Amino acid sequence: MAPRVLLLNGPNLNLLGSREPDIYGRETLEQIRRLCEAKAAELGLELDFRQSNGEGELVTWIQEARGRCRGLIVNPAAYTHTSIAILDALRLCGLPVIELHLSNPAAREEFRRRSYISGVARGIICGFGSHGYTLALEAMDRIVRGEAEG
Ligand code: DQA
Repeated sequence: MAPRVLLLNGPNLNLLGSREPDIYGRETLEQIRRLCEAKAAELGLELDFRQSNGEGELVTWIQEARGRCRGLIVNPAAYTHTSIAILDALRLCGLPVIELHLSNPAAREEFRRRSYISGVARGIICGFGSHGYTLALEAMDRIVRGEAEG
């Protein structure tokens, strides 16, 4: 059976394409989803790709991933910088986590430099726009197949 990977997108990412395109690019989330589905098929992963504007919904999805997924890739969007609830859920789910961002938050405003998520992440991919999504899938593929260090 293909290893299942959950890829979560946080608030405002549903508006990609029209939201600050100079920072986040011109691709829509639907286009990024299709890119990810093609990459997952190539790697032999089963992809569960979701977006929510709600912190609670993201927490519930992370809890539900326990036992049904092998890895979790998350672009928590603004919750990166605020959410202890998402941090706690990621910690308790026990899955390998990759933190993902389109932009490089460290090169932006001061308030984006703190990530509550980084402490539980196996690794972080940021600053490569939508390409980061396929890079994250490749990294997660190696992790779930036991080829990655750490
Ligand atoms: C983001 C970076 C966050 O700081 C921001 O709040 C987002 C998107 C990114 O993908 O670059 O909404 O996670």
